[in-house]
Amino acid sequence: MKGIILAGGTGSRLHPITLAVSKQLLPVGDKPMIYYPLSVLMLADIQDILVISTPHDLPQFRRLLGDGSDLGLRISYAEQPKPNGIAEAFVIGADHIGDDSVALVLGDNIFHGHSFSDLLRKERENVDGCLLFGYAVHDPERYGVGETDGNGRLVSIEEKPVRPRSNRAITGLYFYAADVVGMAAGLRPSARGELEITDLNRAYMESGRARLVEFGRGFAWLDTGTPESLLQAAQYVRTLEERQGVRIACVEEVALRMGFIGPEECHRLGARLGNSEYGRYVMAIAEEFAAASG
Ligand code: G1P
Repeated sequence: MKGIILAGGTGSRLHPITLAVSKQLLPVGDKPMIYYPLSVLMLADIQDILVISTPHDLPQFRRLLGDGSDLGLRISYAEQPKPNGIAEAFVIGADHIGDDSVALVLGDNIFHGHSFSDLLRKERENVDGCLLFGYAVHDPERYGVGETDGNGRLVSIEEKPVRPRSNRAITGLYFYAADVVGMAAGLRPSARGELEITDLNRAYMESGRARLVEFGRGFAWLDTGTPESLLQAAQYVRTLEERQGVRIACVEEVALRMGFIGPEECHRLGARLGNSEYGRYVMAIAEEFAAASG
């Protein structure tokens, strides 16, 4: 399975913070926002990842993540010159996807929960068409909203409905079979001139090939779209990190635990982060891991 992170957009609800800096590079706690969606793909055991952003912002993502080899990944980059919609990611990423299935994650979505990696690794084996992930929210009108039958088949989907038919928001993590490239290319642009992800998912639904998996109550899916929600996300992350002495979305740790790199490489990555608490954590994890396996 291939991975795509879509990190475009203007972040206009965060102006002036995002006038000069891409939203997905803003800090959430002690790390850049894009570490969170990147760690989601890594937890799904995906190592081939395409980062899509605006021509203006792409160089900074490249500076941050390089070719991914430090983390045992293969990261490549592509431009989305205009905000032509989320589903355009599959047109832009056609060569990257090839004949493989693909996971798309939006660069501003934060997921956290117990056994998340197990769930992702199980579900990636069952992708026939499209697989969406739902989450109960109190304000579904702000999101894509889905309804399922008793077997998890999607039976309705709407984008930001005024009167939502359920409280199930569709999160920014999507799994597709390889035919997504053709499906996306065949979409008609919406009134806004965009290839809408919800139209793509509806097309799969209409051919009976769309499922929705629910994240349960103990799971966190956090928004980062406004100054208030960005602060709340950072507070959530810090609260859990402080309490448990672990770090969420520490990509070096994820790479180590997924077996993409060894403890020595992990330690070196931590040492390179110099005098930061984050760097010390990475080194400590590498030492613990080496001691436990050694
Ligand atoms: C997009 C999708 C929406 C989805 C949301 C998740 O909305 O269009 O269906 O629920 O991402 O973050 P946007 O955030 O671009 O308004």
